Amino acid sequence: MGGVTLEVQDLTKCYTADRPVLRGVSLRLDSEGITIVIGPSGAGKSTLLRCINRLVEPTSGRILFQGTDLVTLRGQMLRERRRRIGMVFQEFNLVERLSVIENLLSGRLGYVSPWRAWLRKFPETDIVRAFELLDQLGLSEFAAKRADALSGGQRQRVGIGRALMQEPELLLADEPTSSLDPKTSVEIMETMASLARQRHIPVMVNMHDVNLAKRFADRIVGMTEGRVVFDGKADDLTTDELSTIYGGEEWMR
Ligand SMILES: Nc1ncnc2c1ncn2[C@@H]1O[C@H](COP(=O)(O)OP(=O)(O)OP(=O)(O)O)[C@@H](O)[C@H]1O
Ligand SMILES: [Mg+2]
Repeated sequence: MGGVTLEVQDLTKCYTADRPVLRGVSLRLDSEGITIVIGPSGAGKSTLLRCINRLVEPTSGRILFQGTDLVTLRGQMLRERRRRIGMVFQEFNLVERLSVIENLLSGRLGYVSPWRAWLRKFPETDIVRAFELLDQLGLSEFAAKRADALSGGQRQRVGIGRALMQEPELLLADEPTSSLDPKTSVEIMETMASLARQRHIPVMVNMHDVNLAKRFADRIVGMTEGRVVFDGKADDLTTDELSTIYGGEEWMR
């Protein structure tokens, strides 16, 4: 492996004219490793992730994913690239009335023909992979359960499984643990980190919990008001750096 998976170049985003939310973000992600983005509410962390997977249209800049600029892609070409980017959400975004295994398989929807998708007829290989993954996630006994019958932690495992079913080459997670208790949060981060490492998938995670970020990040990116103001190792994230990112320091006492 090795090389660069993602290169964000001078990305800007204005939802409304003259009010930039991203003000020239540049970032390179290698083909492995966990990058955690921290920063105050409103800093633009979610906007950055959403620009990368094109849920949000960037205003200017380039987003090179495996060398191809996603910003210029449209239609089928965009869909083909985008299905290689897995997304994990804070609120899980499962289909509540579907079973756990069907939720996992929905990660394959970008690959099967529309009529197969409509009939929910997935190839045998996908079904085998889904059950293998379910086992790795420790959810085998829940395969036939409806998603809405699971706990938050179990639901997020399904969310991770669905993203991995896409066979992603990049995994994005927007506050994947913010709805979970501290112990479950650690377990979810452990699961996501180890499954991503096994598969050599780079991960970019937004979160507010600085201690959790330090524990799992190979690299931390600090954002303030639409700019990257820190980019380094967890050990280099000093009190001074935290005060640059979040402002003030009284809150740290
Ligand atoms: N769809 C939208 N339309 C207009 N403004 C938006 C939209 N989404 C976000 N914003 C604004 O962009 C700014 C950055 O929001 P964003 O959600 O990216 O921040 P964040 O760092 O993820 O914050 P949080 O930590 O609270 O999740 C905020 O001022 C927000 O109000
Ligand atoms: Mg956010």
